[in-house]
Amino acid sequence: MCGIVGLIGSPNATNIVLNGLKRLEYRGYDSSGIASMGADSLISIQKAVGKIAALEELLARTPLPPAIMAMGHTRWATHGKATALNAHPHRIDNVAVVHNGIIENFQELREEIAAADITLQTETDTETVPALIQLALNQSKSALQALQAALPRLEGAFALGIMLEDDPKTLYATRRGAPLCVGIGDGVHYIASDPLALAEHTNKFIFLEEDDIAVLTTDKITLYNGNGQEVTRPTQLIDLSGILATKGGYKHFMLKEMHEQPAVVSNILAAYLEDDVLTLPALNWADITSVNIIACGTAYYAGLVGKNNLEQLAGIPVNVDVASEFRYRNPPLQKDGLFIAISQSGETADTLAALEYAKRHGQHILAVTNTPTSSIARAADVVLNIYAGQEIAVASTKAFMGMITVFALMGLQAGQIRKKIDSQTFTAHLQALKELPAKLTQTLSNDAQHTKTADLFRDANSALFLGRGTLHPLALEGALKLKEISYIHAEGYASGEMKHGPIALVDEHLPVVNLASSSDGLLEKTISNMKEVEARHGKVILITDQTAAQTLDADIAKTATLITVPEVPAITAPMVFTVPLQMLAYHVATMRGTDVDQPRNLAKSVTVE
Ligand code: AGP
Repeated sequence: MCGIVGLIGSPNATNIVLNGLKRLEYRGYDSSGIASMGADSLISIQKAVGKIAALEELLARTPLPPAIMAMGHTRWATHGKATALNAHPHRIDNVAVVHNGIIENFQELREEIAAADITLQTETDTETVPALIQLALNQSKSALQALQAALPRLEGAFALGIMLEDDPKTLYATRRGAPLCVGIGDGVHYIASDPLALAEHTNKFIFLEEDDIAVLTTDKITLYNGNGQEVTRPTQLIDLSGILATKGGYKHFMLKEMHEQPAVVSNILAAYLEDDVLTLPALNWADITSVNIIACGTAYYAGLVGKNNLEQLAGIPVNVDVASEFRYRNPPLQKDGLFIAISQSGETADTLAALEYAKRHGQHILAVTNTPTSSIARAADVVLNIYAGQEIAVASTKAFMGMITVFALMGLQAGQIRKKIDSQTFTAHLQALKELPAKLTQTLSNDAQHTKTADLFRDANSALFLGRGTLHPLALEGALKLKEISYIHAEGYASGEMKHGPIALVDEHLPVVNLASSSDGLLEKTISNMKEVEARHGKVILITDQTAAQTLDADIAKTATLITVPEVPAITAPMVFTVPLQMLAYHVATMRGTDVDQPRNLAKSVTVE
């Protein structure tokens, strides 16, 4: 989604901002722009639609004047189409602004601004921000006072970078409900919506709190809280050395990240298992009577797998909800309940808002995240890192693997504490988890089957994914992966639900991907569902393990296209079955020539609701 990067103090300011924007490209965007403050104390702006390369070309043709202060933005359109006019920075008179988030009361503000004789040029909500600041400046306030007067008028979520010609040696930043950090360099001070944008420049960061205003000059950073008091916030050292991500010889980040999955599982086991003892931060599992798991998208599907773990291994009833539904339903919550927020980025606006709701209602908050410095991690009582490393491809793969592996360990820990698992079973589960990296590597090497099966989707407009038990969430995830990167409409369903509606879609053009494991006692049922598809001439695809494959009757074995995975026990089946689903989506997407790593319309981190 939108990204911000800015700095003061380097003669190379514009280039540093441009490179920072490139680092944020993976988050998804449709236009970009840069503002710089020239030595003449005048702001200049360049903006372009499309990839950063378009902005770079524009700057090569029409460079910005030399400047030691600049700020840039990648825009993911919300209010107003993806045009150069609507791209950020937005400027009214002496004030330029870059903005992540949504100003919800922008209509009302537009009327007020129009009444004050300022003409807004764009369709965006953002343009109201520099206008409000300019109006405050017109009342002879200082730059800081103008910000302190204007910002409380904004409703919604925002992170802002602000430059003012009235105060040409200062870069301002603020945030509410959207992340923004200040980076501390050597004589250079930075702002960024994601520390990754500054990975080459600093490892020292201050994360702004709600309504903080940061005032950056070349030699000083001053912070004010929402009440106007000068405050200090902790400086955090973040090791970004491993994060300067490259494709490492793979054609796409997504492919590379799928191949990193065995390592992700190994990282998790190294972090949370010592001499066969689980070392996850201990929760009060013995007293927990229910759990709410909240997340969005792929992380939500990981939550559905987690529900199975906690229910089956520890006997705890679990509710799993999509964050955007949960937050507005005002659900009653049992006092002292456990609330688990899952988020790769740790910045998903709906998940964060659901977490805040749970906090207000006395819940104990556990964050399962890939970003321990994120807003969601900082708001949680306990954080479980999934150790997946930076995920660049918009389609989440290794983070999903990390999430479901952590939930398997969490289920085991809870089961052990609640005395629901005897030591023999515990040891068997641990053994399966220890063998998982090798099983994943074996599954990843099965590329011939994945590419061959992908060909069945060449002319498909639609596809169905069916699974039961722990494989049901995987059917949902498989469908999501396919639609995200190949743009083929796909639906995931519980196999048993097929007769209740989706079967009407089945004809000779429809690929139906069935997931069946010999480890869950549901194989026969799934085979029956497959036969129903076959009887209606659907293109039957079966992802199953080697043992189950051998028991297939001759008809199915002849007509179905098979992808086989290694046989594993139920606890690790979701991880192993995940791989062919990801690979299938990947190969269909490359066959159709889509932008695999940055699919259209999508953002890596959804920081607006
Ligand atoms: C998955 O491939 C997605 N692009 C998306 O559904 C993602 O999982 C969702 O937006 C949640 O993101 P988070 O894990 O960063 O909160």
